Amino acid sequence: MTISLSATELENLDRRHVIHPHQRPDRQDRRVMVRGQGSTVWDAAGRDFLDALGGGIWVAQVGHGRTELAEAAKEQSLSLAHFTTFFEYTNDKAARLAGRLAALAPDHINRMYFTNSGSEGVDTAIKLARLYHHHRGESSRTWILARHYGYHGSSYGSGTATGIPDMQAAVGPNLPNVEKLMPPYAYRAEFYGGQDVTDFLIAELTATIERIGAENIAAMIGEPVLGGGGVIAPPADYWPRVREVLSKHGILLIADEVITAFGRTGAWFDSAQRGMQPDLIVTAKGLTSGYQPLGAVLMSDAIGETVPAIGGSFFHGHTYAGHPVACAVALANLDIIESEGLLDRSLKIGAGFRSGLAAAADLPTVGDVRVEGATVGIELVTDKATRESLPPDLALAVADELYYNHGILTRNYGATLVLSPPLVFTDEETARTSAALTEVLARVDIEGCRIAPC
Ligand SMILES: Cc1ncc(COP(=O)(O)O)c(C=O)c1O
Repeated sequence: MTISLSATELENLDRRHVIHPHQRPDRQDRRVMVRGQGSTVWDAAGRDFLDALGGGIWVAQVGHGRTELAEAAKEQSLSLAHFTTFFEYTNDKAARLAGRLAALAPDHINRMYFTNSGSEGVDTAIKLARLYHHHRGESSRTWILARHYGYHGSSYGSGTATGIPDMQAAVGPNLPNVEKLMPPYAYRAEFYGGQDVTDFLIAELTATIERIGAENIAAMIGEPVLGGGGVIAPPADYWPRVREVLSKHGILLIADEVITAFGRTGAWFDSAQRGMQPDLIVTAKGLTSGYQPLGAVLMSDAIGETVPAIGGSFFHGHTYAGHPVACAVALANLDIIESEGLLDRSLKIGAGFRSGLAAAADLPTVGDVRVEGATVGIELVTDKATRESLPPDLALAVADELYYNHGILTRNYGATLVLSPPLVFTDEETARTSAALTEVLARVDIEGCRIAPC
């Protein structure tokens, strides 16, 4: 029997026993979420919140509380909760999900490796890239090109590829042979010394390949649209030109689509619409809308036919790879995304934010509003002309004000406020979020480093 605990008791338990990802020592408040339905979640005290963050972390594509996904998990748990996919074993749901993903992916991608998270997926992709070259007689190809501002996860491989120095501080040595390039961040024109963004970045990429030596580079990894970096979409010619340079030098391209895949930006795979033509695609979050921890690394036929086939077994594996319950939930989730037209809905949410935030864009602290389907980055500055970033703690205060005074969940990534609501977000919810943001942003008091009272 479960003994019911009050909100305060739950908060105390948590404070005493749980270490949170990215926990700040100066924050002792706790937000204990206990229930969700559609785009609304409730905390242990019974207060409701509009979830403009997708489960707080870019998930919940089909919304909270979906019976279809709960039923899929229940049915699969009763028929076969788990059996390994190591060696020759498999299960019906993993096989069916792999077939479904192959049908959705670009034509040259037909094989996948299942993981439990995005970080595992990125590590797997890095290993696959190195193994691919090794089996083809190019063992010197070990270097990985990544980008500043990129986010790829928290394990040693994915954490090193991440372009946020705090992720690598004091836990080294990190993964060797990882080189960071500049991101395509058009708003920060100062990064490129007056040059065209793509021209600058192609010159940097070419010079880096020359310096390290193409014969030593396995792959480049990048998010089609940088997510945690602040919802930064590249100029249209960036990925096609990067792809061209990489292909010329035999370097693989890994698209990290942990955020973007399965509708976040309006497509099954965002890399396809940006001309990336990746050799590997890493997915997670939206694959199950967060209802189960599951990811998939999708690989080109060239890699899929080379890695396990030549040079012995693929010595890589996770106990829960291809977990049948997670795969059953993913299948039901993809059904909903398709049958409810959530890819189109994602674009409509984006259009709603574009018009809803038009007035906010004119506020003195709003430097840039970036909308990519159902995800938004609002970059805050102290001065529109100099583009000096707002102190991150003041951006956090904006998110706190939205939480406490409007009951809306948003988040700051440094000086950028981010939205990533469920793809079932209604027009009314989009308008309400936009109006609340505009209201709070109008009260940012830079001098006083606070949000002015209403
Ligand atoms: C682009 C990207 N890649 C990888 C990851 C890591 O995924 P996970 O947290 O599931 O390990 C994330 C997480 O937010 C992400 O945004």
